[in-house]
Amino acid sequence: MLKVSGLDVFYGDAQALDGVSLEVAEGSIVAIVGANGAGKTSLIRTIAGINRPARGQIHFRGLDIAGAPSYKVCDLGIGQVAEGRQVFPTLSVSENLDMGAMLPRARATRERNRERVLDLFPRLRERLSQAAGTLSGGEQQMLAIGRCLMGAPELVMFDEPSLGLAPTVVQQVLATIRDLNREGLTCVLVEQNVAVSLRLAARAYVLENGRVTLSGTGKELLADDRVRQAYLGM
Ligand SMILES: Nc1ncnc2c1ncn2[C@@H]1O[C@H](COP(=O)(O)OP(=O)(O)O)[C@@H](O)[C@H]1O
Ligand SMILES: [Mg+2]
Repeated sequence: MLKVSGLDVFYGDAQALDGVSLEVAEGSIVAIVGANGAGKTSLIRTIAGINRPARGQIHFRGLDIAGAPSYKVCDLGIGQVAEGRQVFPTLSVSENLDMGAMLPRARATRERNRERVLDLFPRLRERLSQAAGTLSGGEQQMLAIGRCLMGAPELVMFDEPSLGLAPTVVQQVLATIRDLNREGLTCVLVEQNVAVSLRLAARAYVLENGRVTLSGTGKELLADDRVRQAYLGM
């Protein structure tokens, strides 16, 4: 579904991604593992059309989208849930959801998507008129995911979705991602809980200093000594 080949990304003179290649099969969860500063967010933002690559291709369903503007990428069906839950704090829950449905691809199915999101997150239904900035961290993350789903994406990239959340909410967010995947959503997952993300993932890639240094099935990486030492503390 998604194929990234030889991606280079720079911030000024500093190289953030160096020849990154990866593949995401339709219907799968693919985990990206790496330390702080490894380039995970840069990779997601480049696929999303926010950063422009200096070199490389990004094929989505066969179409090269490298360098395409983000609204086009979104409208092709690639959504992202950005690091740090970027909800609009002064807008209500309901208005935040509406913002997600402004893509041309999502307009016709807006009401149906809204019902689906509110069924998925009943807490949002109870708080539709509440300002998003007054929600708890977990509720804001649900809203960020819900807003993304309002765009009717086929592939969603989750950047640290459980960062800063209470342990029970972490489990809830990760279970939601697992359930969405079971319903057919293809997912790219960057997650601090490396063990959980590798268990969920069909494939996984390890990023170090902007390069893919290791890849395999989630199971293979869970059993890999280098991964266990560096990311699982074993
Ligand atoms: N907007 C930016 N301007 C300059 N450097 C950046 C910017 N965003 C990220 N970087 C740098 O790029 C590298 C990769 O960062 P990032 O993609 O955020 O990593 P990760 O998400 O894995 O923590 C880091 O060295 C970081 O300092
Ligand atoms: Mg990051």
